[in-house]
Amino acid sequence: MADISLPAALLPADGRFGCGPSKVRDEQLTFLASLQPSVLGTSHRQAPVKDLVGSVRAGLAELFRAPEGYEILLANGGATTFWDSAAHSLVERRSQHLAFGEFGAKFGKATGAAPFLEAPDIRSADAGSRSQAEAVAGVDVYAYPHNETSTGVMAPVVRVAGDAGALTVVDATSAAGGIDFDANEADVYYFSPQKNFASDGGLWFALVSPAAIERIERVTSSGRYIPESLNLAGAIENSRKNQTLNTPALATIAMMDEQLRWINGQGGLAWASARTAESSQVLYDWAERTPVATPFVANPEHRSQVVVTIDFDDSVDAAAISAALRANGIVDTEPYRKLGRNQLRIATFTAIDPEDVRTLTGAIDYVLERLV
Ligand SMILES: Cc1ncc(COP(=O)(O)O)c(C=O)c1O
Repeated sequence: MADISLPAALLPADGRFGCGPSKVRDEQLTFLASLQPSVLGTSHRQAPVKDLVGSVRAGLAELFRAPEGYEILLANGGATTFWDSAAHSLVERRSQHLAFGEFGAKFGKATGAAPFLEAPDIRSADAGSRSQAEAVAGVDVYAYPHNETSTGVMAPVVRVAGDAGALTVVDATSAAGGIDFDANEADVYYFSPQKNFASDGGLWFALVSPAAIERIERVTSSGRYIPESLNLAGAIENSRKNQTLNTPALATIAMMDEQLRWINGQGGLAWASARTAESSQVLYDWAERTPVATPFVANPEHRSQVVVTIDFDDSVDAAAISAALRANGIVDTEPYRKLGRNQLRIATFTAIDPEDVRTLTGAIDYVLERLV
């Protein structure tokens, strides 16, 4: 492949379009540096760090317009660890999972492997589409992703009209902070911070309802063996004290805090959601009018506003586009590694400037003209 050098006018101000870790804003690093030496390198059991954790919890409650009685929890381990925690201390007997991509399916695997639970009810759909939750007697947790990062499909946050007491548990890892929703429709809205919150990985956060808290307390007092580091009752107890069971990544918390201040200051979730909708629409419109490209997600209502997936004709090698972009500093447009499609996947998270997305479409056009 010949080297393709993009003209300066086609270089976005920031070339990071990955789905996580994703673009970190300079202001987050400035804030992080301002915590030297008062917070960084100091004890996570003392006021400076606890106040920072408290600020993140308050910022999230404000962002999500937390209903009465809802709380913000956090713990080490990321969303992947949350699945194991939920299998141990949230699901009482049986869960239902919407599996329309890698991440929804993984939570189902975690509950499927737990010997103290009944086999989960897994509702699968092909990549690029989505499945539907359905009330089933005996199911006490309905779980699905708000946004399936592996395919670029989003689903509305709505309760399943199941048994009274069944919980709606939403994986918001790539949606939280970028897609508006009504918190009353979920009992647990959990996520990792390396997507719309533009922070690093390693922790999970969750908005939880009073019903979810009651469930966690009931399951943990049932006598079931629960490893201490996975016990959500411990996460409740520690989060209320603005701390974690064991040492957290302070820089992750600090960068998250600054991103929350920025989003809340700009107009909160409604503002963030409008911004990601604008950015993603630029890409979907581009794909619709470009003969060799098509949005991977056929149904426009299912198309994600934070993770855009675009398929290419066989006449074009999408990997060559990604490689040419990468050589010009525009990175992480490759598709999800296990999807195996001739595709670009582009994040339009809140930190990403819609203007940079417009410039990116020009850059892809330029590369296409020279590849085909
Ligand atoms: C929707 C979704 N859920 C869960 C995860 C896992 O997050 P982590 O790697 O922080 O455990 C990811 C990671 O990309 C994700 O996109």
